[in-house]
Amino acid sequence: MKTKAIIFDLDGVITDTARYHFKAWKMLADSLGFGFTEADNERLKGVSRMDSLNIILEINGAEDRFTLEEKEALCKTKNDNYIQLISQITPADILPGISDFMAAAKAAGLSCAVASVSKNAPAVLKSLGLADSFDYVADAKKITRSKPDPEIFTVCAESLGFKGSDCIGIEDSQAGIEAIHAAGMKSIGINVTVCSLEPDIHLKSTAELDFASMVD
Ligand code: BG6
Ligand code: MG
Repeated sequence: MKTKAIIFDLDGVITDTARYHFKAWKMLADSLGFGFTEADNERLKGVSRMDSLNIILEINGAEDRFTLEEKEALCKTKNDNYIQLISQITPADILPGISDFMAAAKAAGLSCAVASVSKNAPAVLKSLGLADSFDYVADAKKITRSKPDPEIFTVCAESLGFKGSDCIGIEDSQAGIEAIHAAGMKSIGINVTVCSLEPDIHLKSTAELDFASMVD
């Protein structure tokens, strides 16, 4: 097989936590009297916590309203909201098609990794019962650049001992698709709604994942 590894995004790909990130930011935005819509939220997918806050501030013309210390406190409030929302996650929250796709990849001798910039990724994987299911999980604390920078995908490939062109990345965000392509990988997009760069394979949901026809 040409492909050696599958690199999964977490939020919005392995599980539907993207909607919890949105809810948690929406609670914060409402409390500040800021506008923040689901369309705005597309820009936040795959983007780090502080970069996400900066986008919300920019949307509301409030870039200069807070000190760094105040912004860190706002990020903490968002994360407290988020932790509350994800506290009930169980293995039943793994999205359809993901477990079968991973099983097929492993059966074919491929490696699997997680490329999430979320610092909550280890806790979410544990709640899903997937803490020990991947050959490599990127450490978001060590990633210095948010997607669309390819850093996290490149780190995953290199940590597994492969080149970008050996890997397929799966993403639900425009920033993620750009990151996968910049890392030299083939991309599978899951319901990527804002799309200046088309994924190589575009799916409406993870239920459409099919190892035999999509992995060469
Ligand atoms: C990404 C999400 O996976 O993680 C973003 O798509 C989120 O929406 C980012 O902002 C950072 O997550 P966390 O959990 O570290 O705030
Ligand atoms: Mg995502």
